Formats: sequence, structure tokens, C-alpha cells
Amino acid sequence: MWPYPKIVAHRGGGALAPENTIAAMRCGLTHGFHAVEFDVMLARDGVPVVMHDTVFGRTVAGEGNVNEYTAQELATRDAGAWFGEEYIGEPIPTFEQVAAFCMQHHIWMNIEIKPVPGFEDQTGWTVAQATHRLFSGVLGRSPGALPLLSSFSFEALQAAQLAAPDIPRGWLVDDIPPDWHERLLALGAIALHTNHNNLTPLLARAIKDAGFGLFCYTVNEPARATEILSWGVDAFCTDRIDVIGPTFGSATAAMR
Ligand code: G3P
Ligand code: MG
Repeated sequence: MWPYPKIVAHRGGGALAPENTIAAMRCGLTHGFHAVEFDVMLARDGVPVVMHDTVFGRTVAGEGNVNEYTAQELATRDAGAWFGEEYIGEPIPTFEQVAAFCMQHHIWMNIEIKPVPGFEDQTGWTVAQATHRLFSGVLGRSPGALPLLSSFSFEALQAAQLAAPDIPRGWLVDDIPPDWHERLLALGAIALHTNHNNLTPLLARAIKDAGFGLFCYTVNEPARATEILSWGVDAFCTDRIDVIGPTFGSATAAMR
């Protein structure tokens, strides 16, 4: 059984706040979410930071590669101004800062390892170790107490598995490949994370029947959310935290 929350705020606050910032985490919380997904890569000094794009330009003004700067330098970059005046000065946070916020407020984390190309091993290893350190006190307790690492990078997840085997992993894919089962077994993964647009009821059934969790990204239409939940999808992340609340689908599930 899926031990984690069902509805997860994508990049912290979905479409309502500047993604992957502490303000986004706060926004998700304000909307009643105790579950977030966010993206982690390494800064130049090897410190994990919460950021989606590997280059500046979209959410942080400027040009060039994020990993040419240290975490301290990145903390001076504005990750909020693009979104709105009230967010001016919102920094690129470290993973440690975001995790501390989440742990303080009892927010479950889906930590997406998003390596800069060429840094897959190092990123998977570092993020898994850091997570292990943060959660060493609850290892061996209920599985729901731990966060879930995920990544599109198979290599990063292999490194995470070596670094911290007891921190659960989900393999992220856009399109589910024919060898999904072997690949999940090779990673010791507990779940497959996939683009809901490429999921079918048959595939969902096969994944569930094989005993894996099934997580979808990024579901923004309530009707679609209801549909995939009826296929057996365990959880999904959403940008529309204003229309798909944290208890979405619970009444329907209880009636089944
Ligand atoms: O982890 C699910 C989802 O966040 C994957 O895509 O690009 O939004 O990080 P992306
Ligand atoms: Mg992500």
C-alpha cells in the first residue's frame, strides 16, 4: 500500500508561487498541503540546491549555468521576481533549507534529483546521503515517515541506492519503457513516476499488479485526476493546488 500522501504540490506551490522557493513551500502549506515535490541539483561547491532549470533565464534572471556558482552565490540570486513583485528577493534555497522547512511543518517530500548532465552520480549520491542524514532518526519506523527520492536519471538513482539504500526511490519516466519492471527491480525502486499523458489503464494495472507504487506528474484537471485515480494511480503532483486540494478524491475512494 502507498504510505505517502496522494496529492502533492508540484515544485512547492504549483502555479501559485515562484517554483522551488521557500515562499512556494509556504504557499503549498497555506493551501493545506503537507506534501511537496521539488527539484534538486548541485551547486559548484557540491552543495545541493533547489532549482529546476540548469541554466539561468526562466526563473532566475541572467545567462549561463547554475552549477558555475556556489550555493552561497546562488543564495544571492533572485528566484522570485519573475513571478511577482511580492516575491522580489526570494533566493534560490539550499536543499537543507527546504528540507528543514518541510520537516518543521510536517510536510512530506518527493525529492526529485535533477542532475546537471555529467553530474548524475555525484548528485544522486550527495542528495541521498544528505536525506539519509536528515532522516536517520526515523529509519526503520513507518515507511510513510521517509521522503521519496525520484529522478529521470537512472544513473543518479543507482548512486542514491548505493549511498543510502534505505531511502526509498521512484524512477521517473516520461514514457514507460517496455523493460520498466526489470529497471525498477534493478534500482530497488518502490515506485514508478510517470507522465500521466502517456499512461494507460492497462499499464497502470500491470504496474500495480507487480507491486509497485504509481505516481503521476503533473495533473491539473480535476476530471483527469479522477480518471487516473480510478485506474489505480496512487498519487500525483499538481500545479493547480487551488482547484485540486490535498484531500481531492478521498471521498470517492472511501465510497469504493
Ligand atoms: O517529479 C515530477 C515532475 O516534477 C517531473 O518533471 O520537469 O516538472 O521536474 P519536472
Ligand atoms: Mg520536478
